[in-house]
Amino acid sequence: MAQYKFAELEGVHNPILERLLTENRNGVIVDLGCNKVPEHLQNKAQLVDRLIGVDNDDEITAAISQMDRPKNFYFVKGDARELPLPDKSVDLLLMLGIYSQVADRNFYIDPKFRAPGFDIPAYMRENKRRLLSEAARVVKPTGAVLVSNSLRKSQIEVTKNEFSEYLNVQEVNVGGSRYIMVCTPK
Ligand SMILES: C[S@@+](CC[C@H](N)C(=O)[O-])C[C@H]1O[C@@H](n2cnc3c(N)ncnc32)[C@H](O)[C@@H]1O
Repeated sequence: MAQYKFAELEGVHNPILERLLTENRNGVIVDLGCNKVPEHLQNKAQLVDRLIGVDNDDEITAAISQMDRPKNFYFVKGDARELPLPDKSVDLLLMLGIYSQVADRNFYIDPKFRAPGFDIPAYMRENKRRLLSEAARVVKPTGAVLVSNSLRKSQIEVTKNEFSEYLNVQEVNVGGSRYIMVCTPK
């Protein structure tokens, strides 16, 4: 019986996330697009020795620097499309809720992204491609990538095919309003 309660974005009571965190508890675990919700960070951090969060948002960076965060949580401000991490260095890469939203940190506020002629779908496709390329680069040959997203924002077969270009998709699970996939390097 799971002892931990995972919030919606983590996949509620998600045994797959819990299993992978526990299996990799001594390893290098990176939470891409970690956001700033204390209980989400705590849920993950309590299962492992060390959790490294990466996010590119200024407000999130400021909030994390001020909040009472888990002692084993380390934050790096960085872009998931250009990760400040060496090749083959990560045991478990978490991509919870980031895949459908990965963007420049000013995407939601900078008018240049809304200017006539700016092709948002092409921009988002390119962001996803860069994110996947980085995921494939940084994960160790023995490592894993855990992906979770809302089913509303994504078609599971399309997403699976996109991931398959960069990683081996080992498991696809659908539960409630979310899917969760486990991938390994090619
Ligand atoms: C829906 S939230 C995910 C929340 C968190 N993973 C969770 O499960 O609670 C998406 C996060 O991805 C971050 N993000 C979006 N684009 C990014 C990028 N290019 N680099 C790093 N983080 C990014 C956002 O700032 C936001 O915190």
